[in-house]
Amino acid sequence: MKHIAVLTSGGDAPGMNAAIRAVVRTAIFKNLRISAVYQGYQGLLDDNIEEFGPRSVANIIQKGGTILRTARCKDFYTPEGRAKGAETLTKHGIEGLVVIGGDGSFRGASKLYDEHNIPVVGIPGTIDNDIYGTDVTIGFNTAINIALDAVDRLRDTAASHDRLILVEVMGRHAGHIALYVGVAGGAEAILVPEAESDAQSILDTIVAAKERGKLSSVIVVAEGAFPGGALALQKQLEEKCGYEVRTSILGHMQRGGSPSTRDRVLASRLGYEAVKSLISGRHGVMVGIDKRGTVRVPLKEVFEGQKEFDWELYETAKILAV
Ligand code: ADP
Ligand code: F6P
Repeated sequence: MKHIAVLTSGGDAPGMNAAIRAVVRTAIFKNLRISAVYQGYQGLLDDNIEEFGPRSVANIIQKGGTILRTARCKDFYTPEGRAKGAETLTKHGIEGLVVIGGDGSFRGASKLYDEHNIPVVGIPGTIDNDIYGTDVTIGFNTAINIALDAVDRLRDTAASHDRLILVEVMGRHAGHIALYVGVAGGAEAILVPEAESDAQSILDTIVAAKERGKLSSVIVVAEGAFPGGALALQKQLEEKCGYEVRTSILGHMQRGGSPSTRDRVLASRLGYEAVKSLISGRHGVMVGIDKRGTVRVPLKEVFEGQKEFDWELYETAKILAV
């Protein structure tokens, strides 16, 4: 293998740049040529590719987002689109591809591997931490720290005004962000898509907390936990809960900004491992991390598997909220 490429796909996550840097510099260290594909799979279809050197990734480790930009590419869902992408790679003499992204990006990569025999390796990059086969994804740690900072600030206002504040965090299909931020922020309740929530039981929880002497409360709500989101929940709670209620939706601000130390180190480790995996012929896998250290998991297992939700921590949070 003499020439490989790297791209970022799906939602951006802080630490993606650190992963790009690690892939580029490891490839150069291993005497490979390395090209960057812009705008995810769209760049493969548009032939938007540039060869990188070590200086191309200077001064990016501390930056959020992705210098390669990212995209959602409809054409890549079709066999024709993927054939065009494979053709572009072949035209440039690129013999392997590192894909930094989430579940969907790995499905695309896996098809490229199956249909066109292009060696691919995935690196998990998403703030949601919803990828099977790795304990943690690039971006999760930064996102929870940003959201926690917001929860702490909002609690100041909740406490000063004797209010109930609902904080909506990201996680359309997964509650890992809400769980961590809720536990770390001492939330009175944590709502996640993995557990059904109805307004009445949330109301009961808040009223019971008030009766135990709590003067204010904070509820952390994952965006996919309640139909209509935190604002819809506010409407159902405010008349009956005995507090003034306010809602804060943190949204995409959780996805931007400088990556944390943990995310930069994880990204550096996984970028290095991804290139080593390509060179050693271990393709069609994602590189991740668990108690054993860095691991390789077949892409199919990754997107067919379901990341386990930490129910023990979820139940612990309820006990600690008394
Ligand atoms: P993420 O990687 O963060 O889960 P998406 O689900 O939006 O983000 O996927 C990113 C891109 O990966 C899509 O826009 C598409 O180009 C490609 N992709 C996703 N799912 C598939 C699939 N089943 N087959 C082929 N390509 C896919
Ligand atoms: O990055 C993952 C995620 O943050 C989800 O939690 C959220 O639902 C989704 O991305 C929104 O992404 P976009 O606005 O880019 O479609």
